[in-house]
Amino acid sequence: MPGLTAYFGLMDIGKPKAGETVLVSGAAGAVGTVVGQLAKQAGCRVVGIAGSDEKVELLKNEFGFDEAINYKTTPDMTTAIATACPNGVDIYFDNVGGEITDAAIMNLNFHARIALCGQIAHYNATEVPMGPRLFPRLLTRKVLLKGFIVSDYLDRVQEGFAALAKGVKEGKLKYRETIVEGFDKLPEAFLSLFSGENKGKMIVKA
Ligand SMILES: NC(=O)c1ccc[n+]([C@@H]2O[C@H](COP(=O)([O-])OP(=O)(O)OC[C@H]3O[C@@H](n4cnc5c(N)ncnc54)[C@H](OP(=O)(O)O)[C@@H]3O)[C@@H](O)[C@H]2O)c1
Repeated sequence: MPGLTAYFGLMDIGKPKAGETVLVSGAAGAVGTVVGQLAKQAGCRVVGIAGSDEKVELLKNEFGFDEAINYKTTPDMTTAIATACPNGVDIYFDNVGGEITDAAIMNLNFHARIALCGQIAHYNATEVPMGPRLFPRLLTRKVLLKGFIVSDYLDRVQEGFAALAKGVKEGKLKYRETIVEGFDKLPEAFLSLFSGENKGKMIVKA
């Protein structure tokens, strides 16, 4: 499911072209790691955002990202993204929302695309969060922003499976799993998604 989410969000909404820059938030997770690798295969420069130095190293050394940023130790994300993406951002694959997305929007190129996949920074919010209102930026840069749910692509599942399976078989698509043993650990495992303890797909083994 995360692989299909990455595939359809990137390919159908992002429509990557060689030479473009793809920025991925939640990059070291189940969806993000696949987005980055598919974007590299499409010939793009790929920059990931994640929440630890260990994840930053993993993105660069194991998953082939060109650059990665630890948002937890970076005070000015707008400048950090500008530095990591000297030609601006053509595709922003958003898994998290919040301030990271505000910073990403400030770096979008004309005709950029945002694949709006997840907003984990908001899932526990009890009020609608107030932030900078950046829609004028989207307007003037003529940005396409499209939310999607992977089940929108049910009729194309075989296409997604075929593309992803080919990548795995050829060794071009790697994945990580964080496995927690014991059904009773399910709540703990779920909550740890919010503190970023997983790398790749969080799985509870009963
Ligand atoms: N649209 C769809 O059909 C679809 C399908 C599947 C998943 N999703 C969504 O896509 C996103 C990624 O899913 P996934 O399965 O790949 O999850 P995941 O990335 O494996 O796990 C969540 C990660 O989000 C990061 N995170 C948590 N709270 C954060 C915050 N406040 N700000 C920034 N980062 C935060 C953590 O990593 P760090 O250490 O980097 O903080 C955590 O490891 C989720 O938002 C999920 O709900 C959407």
